Amino acid sequence: NIRESVEQLLGKMTLAEKIGQMSQCADSEFAFGGEIEADPTELLVREGRVGSILGAFNSRRTFDLQKLAVEQSRLRIPLMFNADVIHGYQTIFPIPLAWACSWDLEEIKRACMIAAKEATASGITYNHAPMVDISRDARWGRVMEGAGEDPYLGALIARAQVEGFQGDTLFSEETLIACLKHFIGYGASEAGRDYNTVDMSEWTLRNVYLPPFKAGLEAGSASVMNAFNFYNGIPVAGNKFILHDLLREELGFDGMLISDYGAVDEIYIHGAARDRKDAARQSLEATMDIEMVTQLYENYLPQLIEEGKVQEAQIDAAVRRILIYKYKIGIMDDPFRYIRPEKEEEYHFHADHLQASRELARKSIVLLKNENQTLPLQTEAVIAGTQKIAVIGPFADSKDMLGTWQFSRYKEETVTLLEGLTAKGIAEDQLLYAEGSGVNDPIEGGIEQAVRAAEAADIVLLALGEHSEMSGEAASRMDISIPAVQQQLAEAVIAVGKPVVLVLTNGRPLVLDWYEQNVDAIVETWFLGSQAGHAIADVLTGDYNPTGKLTMSFPKHLGQSPIYYNRFNTGRPLTAENQDEKYISKYLDGPNDPLYPFGYGLSYTEFSYSDLQLDRQQMKSGEQITVTVTVTNTGSMAGEEIAQLYIQDLYGTTVRPVKELKGYRKVQLAPQQSIQIEFVITEQDLEYCNARLEWTAEEGEFKVYVGTHSGNTLEQTFELLK
Ligand code: IFM
Repeated sequence: NIRESVEQLLGKMTLAEKIGQMSQCADSEFAFGGEIEADPTELLVREGRVGSILGAFNSRRTFDLQKLAVEQSRLRIPLMFNADVIHGYQTIFPIPLAWACSWDLEEIKRACMIAAKEATASGITYNHAPMVDISRDARWGRVMEGAGEDPYLGALIARAQVEGFQGDTLFSEETLIACLKHFIGYGASEAGRDYNTVDMSEWTLRNVYLPPFKAGLEAGSASVMNAFNFYNGIPVAGNKFILHDLLREELGFDGMLISDYGAVDEIYIHGAARDRKDAARQSLEATMDIEMVTQLYENYLPQLIEEGKVQEAQIDAAVRRILIYKYKIGIMDDPFRYIRPEKEEEYHFHADHLQASRELARKSIVLLKNENQTLPLQTEAVIAGTQKIAVIGPFADSKDMLGTWQFSRYKEETVTLLEGLTAKGIAEDQLLYAEGSGVNDPIEGGIEQAVRAAEAADIVLLALGEHSEMSGEAASRMDISIPAVQQQLAEAVIAVGKPVVLVLTNGRPLVLDWYEQNVDAIVETWFLGSQAGHAIADVLTGDYNPTGKLTMSFPKHLGQSPIYYNRFNTGRPLTAENQDEKYISKYLDGPNDPLYPFGYGLSYTEFSYSDLQLDRQQMKSGEQITVTVTVTNTGSMAGEEIAQLYIQDLYGTTVRPVKELKGYRKVQLAPQQSIQIEFVITEQDLEYCNARLEWTAEEGEFKVYVGTHSGNTLEQTFELLK
């Protein structure tokens, strides 16, 4: 019985040993570990001063450290090994913002299962993922790590990831403890600058930022990490309302609460604690169980107890929560069960995993523009030698396609775009390669060489974007356009006059207005992972008809940021009729609408929507409405469509968003095929956090929208009677 064993062990522990379990150090090999001073990992482990290690990345290291813990520390309590396994461990999958664009929950779950299988073979037991922050501002570098701007889709994806990492049981040697992060509000950093001020109402917190966390908790996530920001002026790492009242009491979370890297110390740096001792007190009061990398708990909790400012019972409660999981994952009885070098050999970068990565990667690609059917490429003509393709740009033959937040040993095996095209049977002399420029720096003679390649080709693939360190943590940008040197390259290449396909590699929505006007086709490939080149080539050649749909709006201009589809009406909404009036919510120098809205993405075929019907116009509590719509493939190629259902609550005790996603269906259609699809709306779909901060559906009128993206829908209305 786990609880009894935990109590027995707790009874034997000194205060220092208890605090040791609550402390995590970054392994000396871990890249982010540099800036915080701490004793060497081995010493901390031997002395029982840490209960978990961050960033030990292979079985040799986890084995050595575990051996020290179970042979040399007084109580021989095994360690947990933590890591950020965000989008794959050795086999890298698309970045989460990309895989969200697949809207494919089963595939995302599979990616997480594979990541867990590979990571656990190295002894890693505790994952710092999924990141489920809502992201509305593309300047924020961490948008690459989340599912985008929508709470409904974000919640579904949060659940899929937790289920993928944790599987059916945490006891399995192939599942990882999941950690929902960053609770809460981190995505709302002002002006998109990482770690910046967040100031939001509880109403916004509950309606927008909370749903993915709720879903992840319902899926059983064993851990939660705090957000770096403050809420109502109090840093979340020490915010009792957020961590204790909301997370523990209201949402019933009794798993492990871990601080983000240095976040306990940052309570003091924020200026919300008189000293570091008080920061430690605040964090413990807020029920923070594990302190990541700093040593405030170790340094100050004993003194705080002596002074009567905190109780040992609070420490016991935290240690209990940690030990319970050490038992649950089986390491208390078998400390080395995860550390399996032979499985590392077998699983890491396994062919099946690479295949899964490729499948998810091509589903993550979003076709943003395709004028005059520029794509797919006429591959047969190229193979027959009658056409040539120029492949130009810093990402034409780059291995930097994994994105940030990955620690794979197989980076050099990443498939580049050029390699992906060659693997399609295109002879190298039909592919005219020119790097053209670096990502941020020019290459001498690069543009001239690129122009020559374009001149000699029938079509140009222009592979531009951001390198992987331009998004992710501490990678906010003021200017989210394609870097200037690449723009110069694009201008020169486009001037040659050949059809140009822009192939983008990037970790966030970019401002692409100029490209939308000047190139023939745009393919958003994000950072697709180990098999990137194959997946892109699958789409470019038409072997795979693109299906991805954006989960973050692409602004037309940076000045629109933050921009999201589920915005509010305002008291002076802009309409088609009042464009020229002055006192209207609009810009003087550009439109309100984004360039590409949420849910947008093209296919090589086209879909039309007709005959949207509701089976009733009034719905009473407990009833439901069935929505039907006909979707037709009007093109000449088979394709898959993601049909989206949105609802608008026309009035409430608070203002309501102009549209909210409440369902979607993926349908595969042969050319000219029509099918009728069905959605069911229940009262639960109409619930929100109202003026009294109650989660409820309010009576009144609603609109239902169904269509191919948030900006292109059919509509009907109904009424909820209560
Ligand atoms: O898990 C991360 C977190 O998301 C941001 N700061 C660093 C942590 C550990 O790597």
